[in-house]
Amino acid sequence: MYPRVIAHRCGGTLAVENSLAGLAAAARLGCRGVEFDVMLSADGVPVLMHDDTVDRTTDGTGAVRRLTLAQLRALRVGDEPVPLLSEVLRRCAELGLWANIELKTVAGGDDAELGSTIGQMLAREWNGHGVISSFSMAALLAAQSQASRHACALLFEALPGDWRELVGATGAIGVHLEAVRFDPGDGAALRAAGLAVACYTVNDRARAMALHAAGVAAVFTDRPDLFAADEM
Ligand code: G3P
Ligand code: MG
Repeated sequence: MYPRVIAHRCGGTLAVENSLAGLAAAARLGCRGVEFDVMLSADGVPVLMHDDTVDRTTDGTGAVRRLTLAQLRALRVGDEPVPLLSEVLRRCAELGLWANIELKTVAGGDDAELGSTIGQMLAREWNGHGVISSFSMAALLAAQSQASRHACALLFEALPGDWRELVGATGAIGVHLEAVRFDPGDGAALRAAGLAVACYTVNDRARAMALHAAGVAAVFTDRPDLFAADEM
């Protein structure tokens, strides 16, 4: 069951993106769900990061996939080191947050390795309260090929024509779509197939309400502060 409002990149604009501070800020505000992006360090450890490089969101420079965990942990994301997926999973459990774990592929990276590494970690360390998603089918399929499968969602900018096959291949329970391209007819077809629809990224309260009224289960937002706790 999706929360109606999902804080994007941990806490949206409440804190630095993809940070433990963002999780805490989202929880303080009354958010029930958060989304964050996960990729691998050079030595294969899942960390929270959105861009291929650390340049925009940390005090360092360079491609994430070329930096070891030790190098990433020496960088600052706001007031904290680059978060590990394992510590974020723990904090989500402590705060009771539903989590959308987005497997984020990088240029030149190995999507299947990303999926299998994260899938294995989730099998050991996640309470399963949420869904995994990815723009990459290879990453999702690799994650789902692990011993323990997780609730998963397909992530697209616009819905492709072969979505039914992709849902069948992955066992997806939801489809996440870009809000500006959302087509209500697609939404109805997805819901009729028993799938939850979620739209990113909606930073306008009226637009979020209109999407909910059109049957969209959840919106990802950078502005969870626009919603009352009982609307989330
Ligand atoms: O998972 C929804 C949304 O986060 C996808 O876009 O670029 O913000 O990761 P992006
Ligand atoms: Mg994301």
